[in-house]
Amino acid sequence: MLVDIDFKDRHVFVFGGTTGINLGIADAFARRGARITVASRKAENVEAAQVRLGAHGGEVFGVCADVRDFDAVGRAFAASVERFGPIDVLVSGAAGNFLCEAKDMSANGFKVVVDIDLIGSFHVMRQAYAHLRRPGAAVINITAPQSYIPMRYQAHACAAKAGVDQLTRVLALEWGGEGIRINSISPGPIEGTEGAKRLMAPTEADQVRAAARVPLQRFGVPEDIANLALFLASPYASYISGALIPCDGGGALESVKSTLELAGQAGAS
Ligand code: COA
Ligand code: NAP
Repeated sequence: MLVDIDFKDRHVFVFGGTTGINLGIADAFARRGARITVASRKAENVEAAQVRLGAHGGEVFGVCADVRDFDAVGRAFAASVERFGPIDVLVSGAAGNFLCEAKDMSANGFKVVVDIDLIGSFHVMRQAYAHLRRPGAAVINITAPQSYIPMRYQAHACAAKAGVDQLTRVLALEWGGEGIRINSISPGPIEGTEGAKRLMAPTEADQVRAAARVPLQRFGVPEDIANLALFLASPYASYISGALIPCDGGGALESVKSTLELAGQAGAS
């Protein structure tokens, strides 16, 4: 079930919006009449997303761009703004991750995730800035619990996502006066997505075990995150800026508890 808020003719740009959670967000806005732009690296993902989003009957524009390429990101915004006008909602969610202990991680392995998640997020917001509707634009960064919970094998993503959330807060300070709100969503494990498969649930049995550790006893679905994005982009959230909002079934609380338990065990030994 998706919340009922109208985005008719609003320009919604979702960077990294061609698969997974971010595609679910783009889909929710498309169902509500928005003009959608999706951008990512791979032409086949961009094309497939355009077909899926176009099925809702609205206008959809797809563009290939790597968030690591500042100029390509700028060109993507210029092309979409020429087509649909100023951006009402910007969602920035391109990311990469893999599990690897820090002692085994190559310098380039660390760098590639920081380049995509953190520096890429800066590129997206910096290049979008001139094109955001004033007043009224809403910017939403898709981050992760790695931002505030240290996780083994994810030194790169933990460092990068913490940086993204701090960018959210700084830009909320700097852009608030122009009527631009900016917030972060931190999803918990979301069923059927690349992130969940790579990081915690490669098999169905793993998913059942991992879901049992979530206080609400289930993985999320993309609609859970899309509903929060719709709310944050809507006038109902007009006094919310600089916030980091978990949408995780309470999972972050459980992880904090587990981390404390592990710390207690280490202290006892
Ligand atoms: N374990 C250890 N190191 C790894 C790795 C793994 N599983 N996967 C990649 N790396 C290292 C590579 O060895 C390379 O380092 P090196 O040059 O020192 O050998 C470095 O990371 C870059 O890898 P490369 O494959 O060239 O990067 P890419 O730009 O093609 O892809 C990734 C970026 C690695 C993040 C890739 O997984 C990706 O595109 N992910 C997007 C999808 C995703 O992760 N979704 C989940 C989001 S939560
Ligand atoms: P996903 O399906 O792999 O989505 C990543 C998207 O980013 C894809 O559209 C991908 O398309 C694009 N992308 C990757 N690298 C890019 C680059 N360099 N330049 C431009 N686009 C790039 O992953 P997901 O699991 O749905 O995760 C989506 C977001 O949610 C991420 O920010 C992730 O950190 C966050 N998150 C996910 C979970 C989860 O359970 N899945 C939990 C917490 C947080 P291309 O390959 O075509 O570039």
